[in-house]
Amino acid sequence: MSRRTVAVEPAIRVLDAIDDPVVLLDVRGTVLHRNRAACACLTAIVPDDRLPTCRQEDAERLAVELALCEATRIPFHKRLELQEGPTRLRFRGRGTRIEDGPGGRRCILLHLVPEQDRAPHIDEALDAAARREQAERERDQVLLRLYRANQEERLRLARDLHDQTGQHIVGLALGIRALEKHVSTPVGLAEIGQLRARLDEVARELHRIAFALRPTALDDFGLGAAVGRLLADWGVAHGIATDFEATGIAFDLASEVEITLFRLCQEALNNIGKHAACATTVSIAIHYEGSVVSLIIEDDGSGCVEEDLSAARLLARGKLGIVGMRERVGMVGGTFAIESLPGAGTTLVARIDQQGRQP
Ligand SMILES: Nc1ncnc2c1ncn2[C@@H]1O[C@H](COP(=O)(O)OP(=O)(O)OP(=O)(O)O)[C@@H](O)[C@H]1O
Ligand SMILES: [Mg+2]
Repeated sequence: MSRRTVAVEPAIRVLDAIDDPVVLLDVRGTVLHRNRAACACLTAIVPDDRLPTCRQEDAERLAVELALCEATRIPFHKRLELQEGPTRLRFRGRGTRIEDGPGGRRCILLHLVPEQDRAPHIDEALDAAARREQAERERDQVLLRLYRANQEERLRLARDLHDQTGQHIVGLALGIRALEKHVSTPVGLAEIGQLRARLDEVARELHRIAFALRPTALDDFGLGAAVGRLLADWGVAHGIATDFEATGIAFDLASEVEITLFRLCQEALNNIGKHAACATTVSIAIHYEGSVVSLIIEDDGSGCVEEDLSAARLLARGKLGIVGMRERVGMVGGTFAIESLPGAGTTLVARIDQQGRQP
């Protein structure tokens, strides 16, 4: 680092022309000069005073730092808390060693940059807000773990129902067919026919329950194909035109995100079937962008009054579908919005950011 050799007296005149507070100190922290700006903000400092740091140990630390700056010529760069009467002032101090000619006086030129002055109660409020945010993050993580555990349990139940109970039913059906060969009376055959019909019903019911626990289509085809298929089947059953599209670059979704979006489609289609009179077209779009996946479900049916869709009003009317959708999306850290206008259809939008989430 080059040695700065500056005549102190002319430097003092230059300092007075500077708008920022600058003080000239000797290495023990004695103030040799303060410029006008420093006089204005540090009225207690008078030439030959010591720089009034808040606490004794700060004053000592400052002296050490100044001596270090003087000895090593490394610019001093520290935070200072100065006591100005009853007020505490915070600065960032930047000091540079200067010399009054070769072998002359060595001084530290300290440039004080006031730090944003915050009242203590603002700091406390900020701390409290940070603690609250942390607590909310922890609660969200616990909820997510519970949600995942719940989904895993449902998946296990669905698998057990399909793989174990389902196999027993297949075995029973084969047994009935074998038994049929040994029965020749019309009454016996009729009984066996009834047994088989009831068993078919049990198999269908079992499949329905297993599907409700965990949509196997998700495992078999992935979200896009599963939703496309759900929508197409629904359209055929209701005689309504449907349109499905997936855009953007798809990425692997966490399984709870996939289930959430699939369930949203199921409930939205149920609602359209029940409430969206005169709907002629229903469209679903899944859009991937960066780490965000968005789901948009739109119908051109009768719509409804948007104010009636607030959680408070829905719960007061014993309605759980839309409230449940909002909660599900919130559980996986996403946002949910519903727009509706009487006579102009309804649109649902869910948006989930996968960033930092395990697929
Ligand atoms: N696509 C839609 N078109 C028109 N109105 C709708 C549509 N979806 C929802 N609604 C309105 O929003 C209300 C709330 O829907 P929500 O799914 O919460 O309850 P629900 O379907 O009536 O009952 P459930 O609790 O069984 O779902 C409905 O009663 C209906 O008035
Ligand atoms: Mg509903």
